[in-house]
Amino acid sequence: MNLRKIAPLYEISDKDKQNIRSIKDSMIQYKKEFVEDFYEYLGKKFDFTEQIPLERFLTHKEKLEIWYEKFFEASFNNTFYQFLINASKKHVDLKIDENAINTMFSFVRRWFHEKIFLTINDDFKRKEVLISVHKFVDINAAIMSSAYHSEQLRKFTSIFSLRELVVSFSERFMFFMNSILVFILVLLTMKAAYTFFAELVDTYQHGSSKILITALGSLLILWVLIELLHTEIQLLKGGKFRISVFIGVALIAFIRDLLILTLKHETSGRGVYFVLASILILGLIYWLIARMEKIDNPRRRN
Ligand code: HEM
Repeated sequence: MNLRKIAPLYEISDKDKQNIRSIKDSMIQYKKEFVEDFYEYLGKKFDFTEQIPLERFLTHKEKLEIWYEKFFEASFNNTFYQFLINASKKHVDLKIDENAINTMFSFVRRWFHEKIFLTINDDFKRKEVLISVHKFVDINAAIMSSAYHSEQLRKFTSIFSLRELVVSFSERFMFFMNSILVFILVLLTMKAAYTFFAELVDTYQHGSSKILITALGSLLILWVLIELLHTEIQLLKGGKFRISVFIGVALIAFIRDLLILTLKHETSGRGVYFVLASILILGLIYWLIARMEKIDNPRRRN
């Protein structure tokens, strides 16, 4: 809150200051009554007896009298603003609900209003003074709320920066783990490529059909690994997670099994039906998920 701008913001003129000061002497006689009425009203609306020790209320009554006097001095200077800010900070420290402060300012406004009615008989003058007093009550209430707003802002910023910290840590950790995964996948792919070529060479040298089957199995594994590596790289580049790839991996594993069973001429056993059923079910799931991902893609981009 820019305190230098607060008086012009509420359109306080020299006339307003004069109006408030003009009733100081007549209002001072009600000082004690004000504090009593303030506490009577406060007691009716709120119960602070357990939250605040009694001696603090006695101090508060004295402070309230000082505030009352200062109010009718209408000095719009730093000393007075600082006095209000200190009071606001004290209220925040004592965990006094902001609602109670607002309620009491509403009471103060009405109380001043009534007393001014008793003090000034001239309708025109009374209206002028009332407008000036209302403006000054508004300023007092605004400054008294300032510490509450700073406190809320402080809480919000600290929660916000904590959230930022957690998010950035998780992101870095995720990147680190994904990098490890890429590294492992690269190693596995290299190993699978080596196995595949070694088996091909072996097939060529021995001409055995069994080694050809194993080589075909290794080729499929290589294919799966390349597909996983591709997905992982896309993920690192900011792409989205694709479940279809994992279903695809399972599908390829069963196709590999079927291939091996066929080449071994074991097509009559129960195993082959199980593999066929699995391929059918996985194929259906793969088709459904791939379709969903295709529909979902443009929706996510919008
Ligand atoms: C119109 C509303 C109010 C005004 C104008 C006001 C004014 C003040 C002022 C001027 C101070 C002294 C700050 C300082 O030491 O520099 C103060 C402190 C304090 N206020 Fe208020 N107050 C208001 C509402 C309340 C309410 C609703 C409570 C609730 C119980 C409250 C309780 C206190 C207490 C306990 C202190 C600390 C007293 C101490 O120093 O021990 N105030 N207030």
